[in-house]
Amino acid sequence: MRFLITAGPTREFMDPVRFLSNRSSGKMGYAIALAARDRGHEVVLVSGPVSLPAPGGIPVVSVVSAAEMLEAVSTHLESCDALVMAAAVADWRPVQVSEQKMKKNQAASSLELEPTPDILMTLKPRKGSRTFVGFAAETMDVEAEAGRKLAAKGLDLIVANDVSQPDSGFDVDTNRVVLLTSDGSVVRLPLLSKREVAERILDWVEMGKTAGGDGGLYLRAASGRLEKQWDFIREIDKLKSVLRRTLLLDGSRYENDAEHSWHLAVMAVLLREHANEPRLDLARVIRMVLVHDIVEIDAGDTYCYDEAGNRDKVAREQVAAGRLFGLLPDEQRQEFMSIWAEFEARETAEAKFAAALDRVQPLMHNFGPAGVVWKSHGVRSGQVLERNRHVAEGSRVLWEFAESLIRDAVKRGYLDP
Ligand code: PMT
Repeated sequence: MRFLITAGPTREFMDPVRFLSNRSSGKMGYAIALAARDRGHEVVLVSGPVSLPAPGGIPVVSVVSAAEMLEAVSTHLESCDALVMAAAVADWRPVQVSEQKMKKNQAASSLELEPTPDILMTLKPRKGSRTFVGFAAETMDVEAEAGRKLAAKGLDLIVANDVSQPDSGFDVDTNRVVLLTSDGSVVRLPLLSKREVAERILDWVEMGKTAGGDGGLYLRAASGRLEKQWDFIREIDKLKSVLRRTLLLDGSRYENDAEHSWHLAVMAVLLREHANEPRLDLARVIRMVLVHDIVEIDAGDTYCYDEAGNRDKVAREQVAAGRLFGLLPDEQRQEFMSIWAEFEARETAEAKFAAALDRVQPLMHNFGPAGVVWKSHGVRSGQVLERNRHVAEGSRVLWEFAESLIRDAVKRGYLDP
């Protein structure tokens, strides 16, 4: 593919020595250019004034102002397949530019400014089938602001850049970004090196061009990454063979862990209105319930009333989490680890609600087949009440419902008082 990439700041002069600009170092744009070159693409780099070494093998068009950047991008647009605007173009420039250095006593107390040309907006009508990628440097409402710019500038992808933290954004080697696409995909990346962010952007652009334009944010072309994800996907098939101590409602067989997780995910969608916290992040709850039992592939299902088994459960599950999530690419390993740890800690509103669902669903499965599993393990109602009491932390409504189910089970003789 042929990439046209912009990097660095622009400078908007008010006299020969003074200008308006920003803190862009060019690192992000240069990282994209180098990554694209290393993947064998043709690259033209339009660069504002930076102090980075010239990237070998890449033609660089050096510019200073937004107007010059517009001219350079416009000239090279025809012969590119993808435009990536990582440059921090100054939004304003002085109306008057003095040819001579202004004297101290000449300086006005206020500076009259006008907007610079918006490069992406200007070139929007010439986009055609090209891929347009923009960046949005934001300090607040990062995703909402980026989404607005994505639509306004007619982009295919915008890289929402949180520049409020010292390790992300301007003049550092790392970046924390969210990829938002015109078809509504949102991928939140963890803190990564700018080179790794560049690779993820290129993955998306390449997939968009080769996979029928579907973006393919989750199917990375780089085989090492996809292989790791595929290994994990194959490995979690084993969850379907981990049997729980709960029977299906018709009593025909034991339920497996994958079925249990799926059931919780559907319950989360249906029952969110009963969560104590009204502003619950439902997507997070669903991720938690889908991930929470994966460790049981190695650690096995520990029956909740098995005292001996519960003594070393935490240690067994830690080792299992290390091996299983360790199959994933680094940042996804961290993400899965953190989702699992959040569920286990039961401190956030989302974790409390997920845990409530994880308790209420087995109650139904014990009640349904007339309490045969409770009976066979000699479980008493006090134990069930005690074990499930924390349902109320996630949902008082579900806890009232659970209590009435337990009372009913005792009345019907499914559970010993
Ligand atoms: O250079 P670094 O130190 O590595 O820092 C990286 C970075 C923070 C500069 C980079 O990651 C980044 O976020 N670049 C875009 C910064 C920016 O100008 O954002 P914006 O929200 O103001 O602009 C939105 C998009 O429109 C950008 O793609 C920008 O290039 C483009 N734009 C902006 C103004 C303008 N007049 N014309 C434009 O085309």
